Amino acid sequence: MKRKGYLDFFGKLAVIFIILASLTSMGQSNIKNPIYLNPDQPIEKRVKDLLTRMTLEEKIGQMCQFSVFTEKYGKLVKGGKVGSFLNVLGAENTNKIQRIALEQSRLKIPLIFGFDVIHGYRTIFPIPLAEAATWNPQLVEKAASISALEATSAGIDWTFAPMVDIARDPRWGRIAEGFGEDPYLASVFSAAKVRGFQGKELSNPFTLVACLKHFVAYGAAEGGRDYNTSEVSERTLRNVYLPPFKAGVEAGAGTLMSAFNEISGIPASGNRHTLTEILRDEWKFDGFVVSDWGSIAELIPHGFAEDSAHAAKEAVIAGVDMDMEGRIYISNLLQLVKDGKIPEEVIDKAVSRILRIKFRAGLFEHPYTKIDQSKSIMLCKEHLQTAREEVRESLVLLKNEGNLLPLRKDIKSLAVIGPLADNQADLLGTWAGRGVAEDVVPIIKGIRNKVSGATKVYYAKGCNIDDTSTNGFDEALNIARKAAMVLLVVGESADMSGEAHSRAFLDLPGVQKDLIQAIYTTGTPTIVLILTGRPLSISWVKKNIKAILLCWHPGVQGGNGIADVLFGDYNPSGRLPVSFPRTIGQIPIYYNHKNTGRPPKENIRWTSKYIDIPWTPLFPFGYGESYTSFEYSNLQIKPKETGSNKEIRVSVDVKNTGDRRGEEVVQLYIHDLFGSVTRPVKELKGFKKISLKPGEKKTVNFIITPEKLAFYDRNMNFVVEPGTFDVMVGKSSENIQLTGSFEIIGDQ
Ligand code: NOJ
Repeated sequence: MKRKGYLDFFGKLAVIFIILASLTSMGQSNIKNPIYLNPDQPIEKRVKDLLTRMTLEEKIGQMCQFSVFTEKYGKLVKGGKVGSFLNVLGAENTNKIQRIALEQSRLKIPLIFGFDVIHGYRTIFPIPLAEAATWNPQLVEKAASISALEATSAGIDWTFAPMVDIARDPRWGRIAEGFGEDPYLASVFSAAKVRGFQGKELSNPFTLVACLKHFVAYGAAEGGRDYNTSEVSERTLRNVYLPPFKAGVEAGAGTLMSAFNEISGIPASGNRHTLTEILRDEWKFDGFVVSDWGSIAELIPHGFAEDSAHAAKEAVIAGVDMDMEGRIYISNLLQLVKDGKIPEEVIDKAVSRILRIKFRAGLFEHPYTKIDQSKSIMLCKEHLQTAREEVRESLVLLKNEGNLLPLRKDIKSLAVIGPLADNQADLLGTWAGRGVAEDVVPIIKGIRNKVSGATKVYYAKGCNIDDTSTNGFDEALNIARKAAMVLLVVGESADMSGEAHSRAFLDLPGVQKDLIQAIYTTGTPTIVLILTGRPLSISWVKKNIKAILLCWHPGVQGGNGIADVLFGDYNPSGRLPVSFPRTIGQIPIYYNHKNTGRPPKENIRWTSKYIDIPWTPLFPFGYGESYTSFEYSNLQIKPKETGSNKEIRVSVDVKNTGDRRGEEVVQLYIHDLFGSVTRPVKELKGFKKISLKPGEKKTVNFIITPEKLAFYDRNMNFVVEPGTFDVMVGKSSENIQLTGSFEIIGDQ
């Protein structure tokens, strides 16, 4: 017994010892192999695990982003006090900094590197407004995936794109960066760009985390003046400005950027209603929000925050998770939490969202970028080919009287004139990533590559883009007189659009209009090519020049893509994603406006119009000509009446009645005739770009889902109201070919 007791005692001791030892070793292996570093664990578990290990300082560190790395940031990275850098480029550079985070910081949390990859990294595609003019989301998605491939090969993990701000004011320079005036079209492109950047698997090292910006109503800047106040009702916010963001969130965008502007009194970067109530509570977005550059600090000049501590508090409580180059979070959050002014849970939530995206992006598994891979990727043949396809699909044939276009390749002589004809830098457009002017194919080169050996190509610059000198006119006139045809390449420089580049006038800058008028007097047939980052008011050109091709800022393959269209190797298929005003006095002008109680009527004075110009735009939304013609017939709407939650199916036959292959953008609009709140006269609800051989006919099908009929009603509910809906199918918002209607009965 005794002996047994003795053994028992030692036996128990041994068991206790073994348990203790194994507990200790478990503890150690947990430290060595924590859950958050284990890729086999679910992301949410990893986030939680990591969060429990972080000090408050380290948590706040994740919420801070700085621009460009300098040695002084090394210490912060070591201390775990930085979550992200922007504008650090090149795998050597990003790897070097990442190594500090991974080898010298306590918890080894990888940094995320962001950059504005807006319409290309090195292979620069047409500006986003031009991409929208392709009405080809698959192509734009492909271009975004190419941009992701190039940018990630240079160490970038995250792009501040797409910009999905609806813009109804072409004075606003940033109209160039978005998809135009229509919520539906912009939503389609928002989702396409997100899919392109993020790919099927965000954890794939060649995908970029997308960032929908600028949340929200930034494009509603009063007077089109950048950063200006936006006065937008809740209903307009929801019906017009929010849908492209929602579409991007539904496509899986990892991040959003809070905007600079205020929204009816509450700055977007301190706006809990938009950032939390709508984005997180309603839409269930679980990624993170980064501020715009210094936009938290700007809560002070907005008059919304008293000082920087107040600004930090407003922003973090509103739902801004990361402070871009503002230094407001790094200098204030710690004290605010210590003083009990911000609960630590608020910080925890913000940090969890940031970590979640870092995990989803696979940064813990592949924090570094392979050196040397980028050389073979940048500007490779396939990328340039896609860029060329995007250029030609983005060009909008605004006028082609007498079929001046396409040109014969064996034309006897051509006078190529204008400040943008032999230009490279401006073709890149605004926010051109790491684009290099020398990569750009100038328009004159594209033309020279295309014409026959016998064609004589003369060139004269004529004038600069934006000064008053007419010294070059004589030379231009000389070559215009001796050539069979003039190609006049005019427009805006790249830096006339984009951030902080709003214009009060929308005319061709400098003396370019005078140059066109001078050339016109020679009587030589003239084609005007317009390069621009925004709609311009070009009434004189429209009235007097026989052929006009809108080329936007087309990027590196500009010259080749434009020449493809000029010489008929590609039949133009671009359509306007935004209305062109006759004059600035008409702004804002957009196709999906309300009817008013006195809709404009010709010859009836007391209706809503101007006494000095027509009320209609110069070129309407959806407009663009082709070298062939299309005929629409057989509009079918099924069912014509529905009382339940059914879809409406619409079909139409479209035939190519011309003599060359062409692509038509078949557009479907609806009009909800009567509602508890007024409805726009027309709303785009579907489009299809189809290719037809001469004589070929295709049936195009659309589905109108209940969601497409719904809107925010008198009580701010998103509903379909019973009643009659007109259906309009056609070639543009003005050129409607066929109409019909259907009825929604009872509750939907
Ligand atoms: C300010 C711009 O508004 C935003 O669009 C951009 O992403 C950031 N700067 C970072 O460059």
